[in-house]
Amino acid sequence: MTYQGLRALGVSQESLDSFPLEFRQGMAARADVLGDVGESAPAQWEHPFGTGDVHIGLSVLSPDAAHLEKALERARTAYRETSGVEVIWTQEVSQLPTGRTSFGFRDGISYPGIEGTGIPGSNPQEPPLKAGEFILGYPDETGNLPPMPQPDVLGRNGTYMALRKLHTKVAAWRQFLRANASSPEQEALLGAKMIGRWPSGAPITLSPDQDDPALGEDLSRNNDFLYRDDDDRGFKCPAGAHIRRVNPRDATIIGVARLHRIIRRGTSYGPPLPEGVLEDDGADRGLVGAFIGAHLGRQFEFIKSEWVEDGNFIGYSGEKDPVAGHHDRTGTVTIPKKPVRRRLQNLPNFVVTRGGEYFFIPGIRALRWLSELEN
Ligand code: HEM
Repeated sequence: MTYQGLRALGVSQESLDSFPLEFRQGMAARADVLGDVGESAPAQWEHPFGTGDVHIGLSVLSPDAAHLEKALERARTAYRETSGVEVIWTQEVSQLPTGRTSFGFRDGISYPGIEGTGIPGSNPQEPPLKAGEFILGYPDETGNLPPMPQPDVLGRNGTYMALRKLHTKVAAWRQFLRANASSPEQEALLGAKMIGRWPSGAPITLSPDQDDPALGEDLSRNNDFLYRDDDDRGFKCPAGAHIRRVNPRDATIIGVARLHRIIRRGTSYGPPLPEGVLEDDGADRGLVGAFIGAHLGRQFEFIKSEWVEDGNFIGYSGEKDPVAGHHDRTGTVTIPKKPVRRRLQNLPNFVVTRGGEYFFIPGIRALRWLSELEN
């Protein structure tokens, strides 16, 4: 539920005021913080994102198309029986036949463990995080209870989700690699240096010279690494690579990485650009991503504004995430190398925000409480 959604359901102003500022303002109002400018600015977003009309988000998941139809029918029955509810936006998403995202890289490998759930995170070297990092009502990594919306029954066991629809300029990405590499092998290496993983998912930290599909697929090994002992200076995985920025693990940075962890779920929309094609075919393709955590400000917003849209924390002031950052052909990407580093110039923009919203995900008791509100 969005802030406007909670309001429409009849939540009191006093209670609405107890939600954090970012949530109350909504994602569109946070555009400057999030780097949603230029072609990603809310004025360009798909309707109805950012208008205040989105009240509830529903994700319907299934292993195949037949099950999807059944699940959708259940949802339709529920909202048809509820007066005042209208579907104003839908987006079909699915995993691509390649099992990879539109840029050609496997995603969904790295996720944190949460203390007390018994479900291990994917990195055996990362101790599980306190529950309060992800669920309201429990102590977080600072030892405190995260600020919780009131009344208690509404906030407890809830969390926040930042939803983003991101268009990916796959042809521009391929052209950039082609223009800056001397052979297909060098193109693959440059792509992996910018992402931090090879297309198979194998981390460049563990396989620095070429892809290793067996490693990419091996769930017990493909996220089993840290940076500091072996690669603190980034000769294998550059400090500016996407995965190292958004989760620096134990690397030397300004700040504390554990305070900015997040749970991600992402999937693709649109047709893949066929292998080897370098010209844009005009199709809309990309990913829909959900970023979940109990602290919108110090998790999703911090990661996007400080780690993706800037490089101060790694000593590269002004340098952005080469893939997920907003670029206007003035940006650079630094690739540590011996004897001299490589610095690529004039980065074009590879990702365009098509829209997004901040949601509050209530716990079960809160849902019941909301359903009983007089409005
Ligand atoms: C279109 C834009 C994006 C693309 C194509 C992309 C792609 C990827 C890929 C291929 C991975 C590696 C898979 C894995 O380690 O699980 C990854 C990891 C990750 N991404 Fe993104 N990403 C995008 C945007 C973002 C944004 C905006 C954020 C956060 C604000 C983000 C946060 C993360 C995190 C936290 C990880 C896990 C890193 C780790 O634990 O090592 N990504 N992304």
